[in-house]
Amino acid sequence: MRIGVFCSGGDAPGMNANLRAVVRAGVSRGHEVVGIRHGYQGILNEDFHVNAAGQSLMTARCVSNIMQRGGTILRSSRSDEFRTLAGRQKAAEVLNRQKIDGLVACGGDGTFRGAMALADLWPGLLIGTPGTIDNDLIGTDYTIGFHTAVATAVDAVDKLRDTAESHERLFLVEVMGRHSGFIALYTALAAAAEVAAVPETTTDYRAIHEHLCELKRRGKRSIIVIVAEGDDSGGAEKLRVELEKLQCPFSTRSVNLGHVLRGGSPVVADRLLASRTGEFAVRALTEGKTGAMAGEIDGNLVLTPFAEATAGVKQVPKDLLDLLDTMSQ
Ligand code: F6P
Repeated sequence: MRIGVFCSGGDAPGMNANLRAVVRAGVSRGHEVVGIRHGYQGILNEDFHVNAAGQSLMTARCVSNIMQRGGTILRSSRSDEFRTLAGRQKAAEVLNRQKIDGLVACGGDGTFRGAMALADLWPGLLIGTPGTIDNDLIGTDYTIGFHTAVATAVDAVDKLRDTAESHERLFLVEVMGRHSGFIALYTALAAAAEVAAVPETTTDYRAIHEHLCELKRRGKRSIIVIVAEGDDSGGAEKLRVELEKLQCPFSTRSVNLGHVLRGGSPVVADRLLASRTGEFAVRALTEGKTGAMAGEIDGNLVLTPFAEATAGVKQVPKDLLDLLDTMSQ
């Protein structure tokens, strides 16, 4: 069969490892693999990866030496045109004309919603792989890029702790996570932060303030508060202002790590997850499966229908929220 592969939405460390797995699993099963650049927009623009021989088929050599590279060599995008019915009709026409039988889409919930909408207009097979740092997808324990993003955040917070301790300050550190507190909570636990403000819980300024006063009384010299981008406080700087209004017992600074978390060389966990789900996606297409995301649960590779994978936001585990509370002394 002829398989198209692309990355869509926010990039994530490990997307290249995923592409490598799709290409090599595809080639070894005798399939043709076409790399589509710039996500859904690349289908519309017929923007295909070209190999060393000037052809649009990807070979094993096209994905040499990319396992360790951040970003995606195929590039990514958020396509407004594909969101329209006319755009999706055009995409279906292009895919038919290019004789694509199946697609592997690496991305997050927006990518999979796009795939579901495309399935109404195009008869080919569609399998997704979970490429997003947010770890917000149902149907996989972790998403590709999540562990690298947390490692990057923890490294930054460790450095901020040094200066926080020297100046006896409180740092509010904002991390990505539009609807999900996974990055914030894992970072908070691994970097020994005192507080995490996540979208899954209501942020109570007074309760945080009282906790900070108690920590000050207990002789604490520095404080780290990790704030998820989608927290109801509105982000690190807004939360900082609210705490100052309540006369925060520490002097405060806020830092937004933002897109820094999407870059860098993927850690081992992301390389393995990307490789496993990429190969599994090709296997699924070969078996005629469609409309599902390839994920890993309890070490097992599983397919979850797109509708289920995007049905809601995966909730952060309550026991990890409790663990942070217990550790914050
Ligand atoms: O990749 C998902 C995500 O990291 C969200 O957490 C964040 O809100 C979003 O990307 C920002 O992406 P961009 O700036 O590329 O639109």
